[in-house]
Amino acid sequence: MMWKGRFSEQTAELVVKYTESISYDRRLYAYDIAGSIAHARAQVGAGTLSPDEFELIEAGLLSIKESIEAGEFTWSKELEDVHMNIESELTKRIGPVGAKLHAARSRNDQVATDTRLYTREACEVILDEIRNLQTALVEKATEYQDVVMPGYTHLQRGQPVSMAHHLLAYVEMLDRDAQRLEQAKTRLNVSPLGSGALAGSTICLDREQVAHELGFDSVSQNSMDAIADRDYILEVLFDISLIGAHLSRLSEDLILWSSAEFGFVVLADAHTTGSSLMPQKKNPDIAEITRGKTGRLYGSLISVLTAVKGLPLTYNRDLQEDKEPLFDAVDTIVMALAVNAEQMRGMTVMKERCLIAASDSMLLATDLADYLVREGVAFRDAHEIVGSAVAIAIEQGVELSSLPQSTWAELHPVLDRDLSFIFNLKAALEARDNPGAPAPKQVAIQLARWQEVLSE
Ligand code: ARG
Repeated sequence: MMWKGRFSEQTAELVVKYTESISYDRRLYAYDIAGSIAHARAQVGAGTLSPDEFELIEAGLLSIKESIEAGEFTWSKELEDVHMNIESELTKRIGPVGAKLHAARSRNDQVATDTRLYTREACEVILDEIRNLQTALVEKATEYQDVVMPGYTHLQRGQPVSMAHHLLAYVEMLDRDAQRLEQAKTRLNVSPLGSGALAGSTICLDREQVAHELGFDSVSQNSMDAIADRDYILEVLFDISLIGAHLSRLSEDLILWSSAEFGFVVLADAHTTGSSLMPQKKNPDIAEITRGKTGRLYGSLISVLTAVKGLPLTYNRDLQEDKEPLFDAVDTIVMALAVNAEQMRGMTVMKERCLIAASDSMLLATDLADYLVREGVAFRDAHEIVGSAVAIAIEQGVELSSLPQSTWAELHPVLDRDLSFIFNLKAALEARDNPGAPAPKQVAIQLARWQEVLSE
């Protein structure tokens, strides 16, 4: 065995199984090979490889890449991880020159490099999926631009909004998620290569050149930090967790809306499942699974946070536990975003049901209080007066808008008039006419803005 060195015994079989990472870190192969080629090229500059040796190494690495992609590469647990599997195969293929590759490098800066490259690309993929879901939400909001519905606080009917306004709230959330990933991507795009095991190397390679070749913006400034740092993973895991939280809230809305109690939307048959027992059931499984998977995303964040918290500088093997949660979270969120976009595109909004729910005149109690304010009544007093009207309506079992004129007159002189201009749902929505508010005019502005942003 090539790395026997100071060891006189083979690693125990159980230990091999327990400590290997090849079963999951093999997916880093392309980054590992790109990193090795850049590293080898820099060795030519440092005089530790001849140009011919570099070419041999590069060709060997590229042939390994081909074999991996053709599914013809045999990964070995005995060789522990992706780095040693590829390096060992290189020497098998090109002979002793392969053994020169690892000079001035450690698996510690290597794994940090590979994982940063992976995470950078993962951010790109997630960003594409975010844009796709935002587009689906904007399309649906445009389709149902004129649907009025109640907006809720405490899941109690609050004030009138529109379906478009409600859906656009998620577009905003997702946009902050995208911004966070863009920022994380800039912060993580720093090359750790050259940091070695922890203290750089006596063989000084051109780090800037390596960084440039790998598309990094800069090189890390402290070798110990570069080896110990997993902030970039944690940051992206947090960003993913928050996307999960947003998707979970959307899911909860859809679960409620698709229930018989609300009936605001109908999800496509293709996006729901039946019950094995109750023939009438149509269950919002995508939404429920999304809500459920969010817990798993948080779990990934917490597991890496916990792995890191007690570690002295610099590398500790605990850090190997960063990859499975990262890969799992990335795979999970990419799929969740894609399936949620598809679900959104297949959703039908039940305009009448939304309108009926929004036509509850209680939703305009605030509008009535606002009217009193415009007539010079202090808001707190107005709130109490309208609150009394609400109590009377509930007691009499009538709509707020149908209280007898005598009752209004008793409550306040300015209410002693035809109040139908207040209890006009369309006018009430149109009156909410300030940037960010749900007046159809404002929502149209937002829709146009998002259509433009997302078409870029
Ligand atoms: N498989 C290891 C990881 O993922 C690579 C680095 C190993 N370094 C070491 N000194 N054992 O963290």
